[in-house]
Amino acid sequence: MQLERLEVEYDGPVARIWMNRTEVRNAFDGLMITELRKTLFDLRTVDAIRVIVLGGRGPAFCAGADLEWMRAMAGFSRDENLREAQALADLFFTVYESPKPVIARVHGAALGGGAGLVAACDVPVAALGTQFGFTEVRLGIIPAVISPYVVARIGESAARELFVTGERFESVRACEIGLVRAAVPEGDLDAAVNGRVEEVLKAGPRAIEAAKALIREVAWRRVEDVQRYTVERIADIRVTAEAQEGMRAFLEKRKPYWVP
Ligand code: COA
Repeated sequence: MQLERLEVEYDGPVARIWMNRTEVRNAFDGLMITELRKTLFDLRTVDAIRVIVLGGRGPAFCAGADLEWMRAMAGFSRDENLREAQALADLFFTVYESPKPVIARVHGAALGGGAGLVAACDVPVAALGTQFGFTEVRLGIIPAVISPYVVARIGESAARELFVTGERFESVRACEIGLVRAAVPEGDLDAAVNGRVEEVLKAGPRAIEAAKALIREVAWRRVEDVQRYTVERIADIRVTAEAQEGMRAFLEKRKPYWVP
């Protein structure tokens, strides 16, 4: 697919997806949603790619939904509105359940759906001074399809305050509430992201996929309800070739084959 809204760079085991609609600070419209979903979906089956870095070209990571595009929805039928909203929800889910870990490289601004993308990624790393905010209520709308990811990441307490005020906040606060995992000077952002990439590349690719599925299954459930599931998962995975290699490599004091 010819990409108009994204640039994708391949660098060994790393795919870097750049949102590239800088004139509107990478705000996403229908085309960007389609391109992001398809790119992430296609990468699922590319074994050579082990980690995805999502970033934004220009001065900001992502200004959220394109407000011109959202406003135009008033002229659409309810069914069309539902279809567009579903496509957006599918994008966040595709990021969230990507079998390849997704590291967000966040700078400038991550607002509304842009902050939602951050929440849906596995390892968000931000530059100090980045503006975050769930600004939707200030526009008369709500952070609907992103809310499951955001509440899961920052909890109900912070979500209540930030969703009802729509206030903007910076990276240090984003880090304190767990929206991002690290906040570093902008000049160090790429090094920090590369550091996370290196850590991820030490992990078994199948194990990463299974660990992500594990979190999805056990989050917010009673231990009694998930215990059987967890027992089955470890029983299944420890006999796989990847797990056998990982454990044998440790015991033989060498790197497993997946470590570059
Ligand atoms: N949708 C559509 N257009 C947007 C946009 C959005 N979400 N965010 C920014 N733009 C447009 C601006 O209207 C402006 O267009 P113009 O050049 O025709 O005037 C252009 O992008 C640049 O924006 P500007 O505000 O001048 O850039 P900045 O670098 O000073 O600030 C932001 C960047 C992201 C901090 C700022 O644009 C902003 O706060 N955007 C609103 C984000 C928001 O509330 N999103 C929630 C959506 S649910």
